[in-house]
Amino acid sequence: MQNPLAEARPGDEDANAFRSGSPLLSQAQFEIFRELADRHAGIALPEYKRSMVHRRLAKRIKALGVADFSAYADLLVDAAADSEIEFFVNALTTNKTDFYREGHHFDHLATVALANLRKPLDRDGSRRLRFWSAGCSTGQEPYSIALTLLNTFSDLGRWDAKILATDIDTDVLEFGRKGIYPEEEVSHIPPAIRARYVNPMPGEKERFGVCREARSLVTFNPLNLHAAWPMKGKFDVVFCRNVIIYFDKPTQRTLFDRFASHMHDGGYLYIGHSETLYKVSERFEPVGQNIYQRVM
Ligand SMILES: C[S@@+](CC[C@H](N)C(=O)[O-])C[C@H]1O[C@@H](n2cnc3c(N)ncnc32)[C@H](O)[C@@H]1O
Repeated sequence: MQNPLAEARPGDEDANAFRSGSPLLSQAQFEIFRELADRHAGIALPEYKRSMVHRRLAKRIKALGVADFSAYADLLVDAAADSEIEFFVNALTTNKTDFYREGHHFDHLATVALANLRKPLDRDGSRRLRFWSAGCSTGQEPYSIALTLLNTFSDLGRWDAKILATDIDTDVLEFGRKGIYPEEEVSHIPPAIRARYVNPMPGEKERFGVCREARSLVTFNPLNLHAAWPMKGKFDVVFCRNVIIYFDKPTQRTLFDRFASHMHDGGYLYIGHSETLYKVSERFEPVGQNIYQRVM
């Protein structure tokens, strides 16, 4: 399902109106936007996405009162317009997500990964557990990790557990931080878990809030996966699902090499259903359906 924020993507509903008053996006203009999306977000825009780019940028152009796509392209390449790049990238990201998307990943997290991770930690006394939802969109993925953790570790209070949730799109982060979702969204959460950790918002019809305990586990921060990573410590579990589909193979290879270097040996990596590490990274071995363990 498309998330609520993604449904309200700029321009989608106004495209026809805009198109009638302005020239269509030319090939040359599309090439400029393509190059900028690649340079600033590593997002590849194949030809078939041209109409999507048109739709999504149209409303922004209208809001700014800029004459047309050429003038908007000039604005973006102007060194003084860095802040506009953020709007541009936010408009071009695809944020589809769900709670408990690819539910088998959360079954594996609960029954295999967390069970294995707690063994050596129990032994050497360290109780530090670090999770990363890389490309977290509007928060359903990191909160699904949090709810799985709360539901699995009855002694979670004795652990130093933290979930980092990052995305390049600053709009989705703002949405995720609130932890409030429509009923349709929370219906994806398994009923027993939902009953325990998700509450109706007082005075807000059909809106539900993720409990404070779960929210306190998650920190949302902006991060472009192709830029420098400020994190120092290593991760036990990384979710990077349905993100690399937008990147080319060399970019994917570099990214997974960086993930491996930021993970403990034996740490778990979860990727999307249409993604693979085959011929992309030798630093992980498959241990389940789109689930890998770091081996070097
Ligand atoms: C389709 S959503 C996937 C959300 C979630 N991981 C899931 O599987 O449900 C992809 C997310 O990746 C983010 N993204 C795209 N390029 C990125 C980049 N260069 N750095 C960080 N996040 C990026 C997008 O903003 C979007 O929110």
